[in-house]
Order: sequence, then C-alpha cells, then structure tokens
Amino acid sequence: MSAPVPVLAVLGNPISHSLSPVMHEAAFAATGRPGRYIAFAVPPDRLPVALAGMAALGFVGCNITVGLKEAACALATHRSAAAAATGSANTLRFGADGEIYADTTDGRGLLASLRHEAGWRPEGQSVLLLGAGGAARGIAQAFAAAGAEVAVHNRTAARAERLAADLGLGIRAVPPDALPHLLPRVSLLVNSTTVGMGGEGLALAVPLVRRLPSSALVCDIVYSPEETALLRAARDLGLPTLGGLGMLAWQAALAWEVWFATPGPAGVMLAAARQELRRRQEAAEGSAAAREKDPA
Ligand code: ATR
Repeated sequence: MSAPVPVLAVLGNPISHSLSPVMHEAAFAATGRPGRYIAFAVPPDRLPVALAGMAALGFVGCNITVGLKEAACALATHRSAAAAATGSANTLRFGADGEIYADTTDGRGLLASLRHEAGWRPEGQSVLLLGAGGAARGIAQAFAAAGAEVAVHNRTAARAERLAADLGLGIRAVPPDALPHLLPRVSLLVNSTTVGMGGEGLALAVPLVRRLPSSALVCDIVYSPEETALLRAARDLGLPTLGGLGMLAWQAALAWEVWFATPGPAGVMLAAARQELRRRQEAAEGSAAAREKDPA
C-alpha cells in the first residue's frame, strides 16, 4: 500500500476569497511533492472541534486566515516565539500525540518579500506601520526582531499604544501630531490596515506620502487590487512601491518550513496567486458587463 498523501488546509471565516489552495496546489505540482490542500469555512465556535478532527484524521497542518488567528493561537499546545509574542497564528502543525504547534509567518513573509522583490534589509531602517490590528502585530514583531526601528500609527491611538506595550522591542506608538516630525526620516511605510481592499483610499495616504523622503519605499499588505490607492499616490510622486501579493506568497512559502522543514517555491506561489486574482477580476468584470447589457 502506498503512503497516504499529506493533506493540508486553510480555515477561515469567511474563506471564499482565499488564494491559498491555488498557491499550495501549484507548489505541489511544480515541486513534485505529494500533497493536497483544501479550504474550509469554520465559524469561531467550531474551531476547537475542527482542529481536533483534522489532527485525528492525520492532516499535516493548516493555515489559519481572517477571523480565527487569535483563537487558533490560543488553542495551540506549543507556540513559536513570534506566535507567542503576537498572540496570532497563521500556520499550525499537528503532532502525533494531539499536539498543535502554532507559528505566524505573516511578518517574516513581508520581510522576505521586501528582501527578494525590493532588495530591502531591515537592519537600522526606520519603519512606519499604519494600523494596529492582528496583521500589524505580526509585522511589527518581525521587523523589530530583525533590527528595524518600528513606529506604529493607528486611527485608534490606544490600540497602537497597547501594541507597543505588549510587544516591547523598542516599538513606539505615534500620535497624529508626531507624524510630521517622523515622516521625513521614514525609509519604509507599510499599510497594514484593511483600508484599500475595495479600491478605497486611506484618508491619510496622500498627505503622508508627500512628506516621505524621495527614497522611501511604500508598501501595502492589501493585494486586491494589486495597486492600491496608497501605492498609486506613492507612484505618482515617484516613490518606489511594493504590493501585498509578494507577502501573501512568502507567508505561504514559509508555512512549508513549518510543515516540511523546507520553504515552498515562493515564485511559483506568487505567479499562481497573481494569475488566479486576475482570473477572478476578469470574471467579476465580465459578469458586471453582462448585467449592464441584460439587467433582467
Ligand atoms: P487585521 O487582523 O487584518 O489587522 P483588524 O484587527 O480588524 O484586522 O485591524 C484592522 C486595522 O485597520 C486597524 O488598525 C483599524 O484601525 P482601528 O484600530 O482604528 O479600528 C484599521 N482600519 C480599518 N478601517 C480603517 C479606516 N477607515 N481608516 C483607518 N484605519 C482603519
């Protein structure tokens, strides 16, 4: 009898937007590594039973996406330093005796994307992070641990202060009145808020990028649309930019390290994610055009 095919999954609430199955299946096909990768919608109150079931069925591990990252981290029996510091997990591995190992590859994924796609290194850099949610926590922790000076600005100032106090590592919360002084010294601006997903712009985007030095890199973790309003504003001013698709691919590639002790093929994952995103955009545009032609 041949060995069972390793099975992995992504759990989210919601899940239909996820590009993870496409990326991981493309990576299995390209590397020849046997594996199957499935998406499941799991409401938060069903997460404990879902994880126990996957462990019992012999799943290798899973990814965790929106709405479940904190709960997954809390349910794990072992946490990496990054997962413990951020209280958030995007990658789980199941042990033979019911253990659940939790890690978060989001922050390291963005670092890897910046390194590979923009030649950017964190040591000694001044980073301004917009947002103080789960995504911002992972990024702030990874960047500060890698030697960057990290400042966090958030619409709700108290949340940025809590992030800085929880994570330590020299991370500072920046109130709005301190931004004009800080911006001319920033070498990397990262939008880690959810703003930009529907094509809308961050109210602060243009005033912020106008004050950055001309060499500053502007990065958005939002990947749909590929060029957000923030990135467009930066590009119009001649600043270098980086979209969020690379981070998505690299966090997936680094999840392979957790499951298989070797990184996945990030380039293959990036190409698969980009192709699928464009296919979905074209399909959405096609059905909008059809509705316009035939409203009935
Ligand atoms: P995630 O886990 O994906 O980071 P989250 O925890 O809901 O999601 O955090 C969303 C982030 O986007 C927060 O920093 C949020 O700011 P608040 O803490 O003030 O809510 C930020 N955000 C969402 N909508 C925003 C808007 N219209 N303008 C500015 N920031 C916004």
